Amino acid sequence: YSVCLSFFFFFFFFFQVIMSQPTLVVLYGSQTGTAQDTAQRIARQAKRKCIQVQVLPLDNYNVANLIFESLVVFVCATTGQGDPPDNMKNFWMFLFKKSLPVGSLSRLDYAVLGLGDSSYPKFNFVAKKLHKRLLQLGANVLLPVGLADDQHDLGSDAVIDPWLTSFWEKVFTLSWLVSRGSLPPTYNFHFLDDLKEEPDDRLMVSKEQTIASQSHPFPARLVSNRRATERSHFQDVRHIEFDISGSGIKFGAGDVVMIRPCNAPEDIQELCQLLRLDPEVRFTLRATDTAAVPARLPQPCTVQHLIESYLDIAAVPRRSFFELLSTFATNELEREKLLEFSSAAGQNELHSYCNRPRRTALEVLADFPNTTAQIKVDYLLDLFPEIQPRSFSIASSLQLQILVAVVQYKTKMYKIRRGLCSTWLASLDPTQGEVHVPLWVKKGSLKFPKERDTPVIMVGPGTGVAPFRAALQERISEGKTANVLFFGCRLESKDFYFRSEWEELTKAGHLILFTAFSRDQEEKVYVQHRVRENARLLWDLIANKNACFYIAGNAKQMPANVSDALKQAFQQEGGLSAEEAERMFEAMDRTGRLQSETWS
Ligand code: 2AM
Repeated sequence: YSVCLSFFFFFFFFFQVIMSQPTLVVLYGSQTGTAQDTAQRIARQAKRKCIQVQVLPLDNYNVANLIFESLVVFVCATTGQGDPPDNMKNFWMFLFKKSLPVGSLSRLDYAVLGLGDSSYPKFNFVAKKLHKRLLQLGANVLLPVGLADDQHDLGSDAVIDPWLTSFWEKVFTLSWLVSRGSLPPTYNFHFLDDLKEEPDDRLMVSKEQTIASQSHPFPARLVSNRRATERSHFQDVRHIEFDISGSGIKFGAGDVVMIRPCNAPEDIQELCQLLRLDPEVRFTLRATDTAAVPARLPQPCTVQHLIESYLDIAAVPRRSFFELLSTFATNELEREKLLEFSSAAGQNELHSYCNRPRRTALEVLADFPNTTAQIKVDYLLDLFPEIQPRSFSIASSLQLQILVAVVQYKTKMYKIRRGLCSTWLASLDPTQGEVHVPLWVKKGSLKFPKERDTPVIMVGPGTGVAPFRAALQERISEGKTANVLFFGCRLESKDFYFRSEWEELTKAGHLILFTAFSRDQEEKVYVQHRVRENARLLWDLIANKNACFYIAGNAKQMPANVSDALKQAFQQEGGLSAEEAERMFEAMDRTGRLQSETWS
């Protein structure tokens, strides 16, 4: 228990430091009050420059915190025979402990101002020795040690004043400090110091409410998650069903379900490691003037939950990500690169680094470890965009079902690229315990005719068949039996989804089915080929029976190819010229007799 508690306090303390850390810390060791006076003068100057500041005698400062600081000024007098003042003696002993790891202060920028008297042999000995030790521990010095001298004709200010001028100049070259001053985070994190569970009332509504929405998705129970393709087939397509009973959600053929995915556990873990965050720690968000706290984040929230469900760390980052990241950079090499990626001139470079290989934000952070270690928790919601919901055509009119192709591809990156949502959905296993997926439903763009006798022609290769399966179920239950479906897939034996259902409907006389198995023969056969082959039937249904024509599926060339095939059918069977076929096509589009829903 006590191990647990100290572990927790460590992290709590750590977050307190991260959170409340002033931008500039002025620490002094003073015997007669001159160093204290100078330190306070620096603090006043900092405030006038709108820089947050904390000023403390060295022995009132917890030295262990130094590893978390970004910018510290030490103002130290030397007394007697090169001795430190009384109010920095403990600090002095701690700092010279052999056990302190070399390099532990690598995130620290510092400056030392010494106050001494050159009539003593060890002039400014404390300041010089402090400077050497800080260098040894890996800290970065901003400017040479200031050696103020009581013996100077004009007093110690003769050195202090120009030293301070050059100190402020250096501080303002720290681009992270400048931009951070002008760009406060949208939210402040307030970390909680206890582990009590306090249910968040705001999120309790989701189970009972009548309409699930983006801000209050319904936690639908995952009923099943089955492969729709043969196990041996390279493409994994999932047929997934949700239980939405009690949600009040209503949907019809053509509607879409909106699902916001979660990040993968290994990505969450990696980000926590990179940012040195404890996933278990809880916080509340405090909004600044410009934004309200996101309604879907519980208050309090754990770091784990924030990363898992909110921060889009697996997306390819945008230019603004690099702009903000560059403000944290203190490592010269990293800062230069980040500034290049942020600049207009660096956009080609950024494209080949990030967009072409589909590098994720998380991978970028791993490429810039020094900068990543400097990221302040408060900026997390500014750095990463919110995970966006994905839409899926509903694949059944009876239950809430979807058909999901699991997205995977290779780029020059070593790790295979995976679609966030499809990979996450495919990973959910309802046989291992209850799984809930937050979702809501939106009206889709596909509308099917109300008239009983109006035929529909549906072209849906691959997962494009999903909305048409829902439409067929709905239409057949309403006694609408004039249905034509063009389905295309790669191999008849591998990815011919819902084959037995189509066969039954065909047998019952509710469906005319045309299939195109693109890879079952040498030459590719696609749905548009079947459309062209069946021009006569299609012309008859469209010209004489007022049929509606639908296209759904993966947008690339397919919708355009199918449209061309249809126009050719108009010319071939209707005897129309190319312009007349085009006009007829456009008229169908205008009047809603031609509809499409495509996705990438
Ligand atoms: P392919 O992968 O063998 O090229 C579902 O994805 C089906 O759509 C697959 O059989 C795929 O074939 C096919 N497809 C690919 N490009 C197409 C296009 N331009 N028009 C129609 N179908 C296409």
